[in-house]
Amino acid sequence: MKVLITGTNGMVAKAAINYCQSISDQVSPFTHQELDISNQTAVYEAFEREKPEIVLNCAAYTDVDGAETNQKICYRANSIGVENLALASKNINAAFVTISTDYVFDGLKFDFYTQRDTPNPQGVYAKSKLKGEILARNTYARSIIVRSGWIYGAGGTNFLSVMHKLLADGKQIKVISDSYGTPTFAGDLARRLRQLAEIDLPGTFHVTNAGEGTSYEGFARKVCEIGGFDGNLLQSVSVNELKRPAPRPQSSKLACLFSEKFGLEPLQKWEAALSEFLKKLSRELHD
Ligand SMILES: NC(=O)c1ccc[n+]([C@@H]2O[C@H](COP(=O)([O-])OP(=O)(O)OC[C@H]3O[C@@H](n4cnc5c(N)ncnc54)[C@H](OP(=O)(O)O)[C@@H]3O)[C@@H](O)[C@H]2O)c1
Repeated sequence: MKVLITGTNGMVAKAAINYCQSISDQVSPFTHQELDISNQTAVYEAFEREKPEIVLNCAAYTDVDGAETNQKICYRANSIGVENLALASKNINAAFVTISTDYVFDGLKFDFYTQRDTPNPQGVYAKSKLKGEILARNTYARSIIVRSGWIYGAGGTNFLSVMHKLLADGKQIKVISDSYGTPTFAGDLARRLRQLAEIDLPGTFHVTNAGEGTSYEGFARKVCEIGGFDGNLLQSVSVNELKRPAPRPQSSKLACLFSEKFGLEPLQKWEAALSEFLKKLSRELHD
């Protein structure tokens, strides 16, 4: 299949390129520099030229704290950009998959969020992502919206990469003990994005690795256990002790009502995905 992927300097996009190429898709990758999704004319021209059958939107303004002061640039990418891609996909009749976030929820539920829960985003980034969801649905009924959270993988700066470097350097790190989520390996997410495009059933999907989810501290302790790092380097803190510019949901575990009903097996458990990723990372560092 011919697959157009946006934001290809990003972490999930890189995993999506790898996965699509592994199944012999013909991939048209676009970095931010090559295609600014907030530029409607540029988006239309790229789509007319490439004529993809599938569009995977991995581009987004992802600086959650920065969004509080860069509202305009954030909305241009996460809302207008998604609308542009949805309309351009509609024009050429392509399947359209766009990624959203667990941050659309306010985090007060402390149980898994499903598609039955009403979003209530708190910060600018979260609000811009929900607006992107709404614009996608309203613009192109065939849109597939994939909410995910706590994503880590190769080639990106994320909570795991930061944590891993500090632990490897023997530095103390503060880990939040009372904020919960469902970790997601970018490689597993990428495969599911492509599968959902293939199934071509519109709607909102929640995609994370399987299991009960964990706290940041639980995740960090698992990293120490698998990676052989000293657990004493972890200093447990409460979410209220960290003052950050943007509000974040305290608990944003996701579960999907539809995936298994549509014949999709659950993604592997988060502990297994983390173990696989850390072992690969360790091999690469020692080669
Ligand atoms: N990482 C997580 O834990 C997480 C959790 C939930 C949901 N998500 C969602 O997952 C998706 C992928 O995230 P990620 O972690 O892979 O993010 P990422 O590594 O920050 O990649 C995002 C990419 O989008 C590009 N971009 C920004 N504005 C753009 C624009 N206007 N036009 C085209 N490209 C643009 C960025 O380029 P520049 O850097 O050059 O601006 C960057 O290469 C996003 O939709 C994000 O909201 C991520």
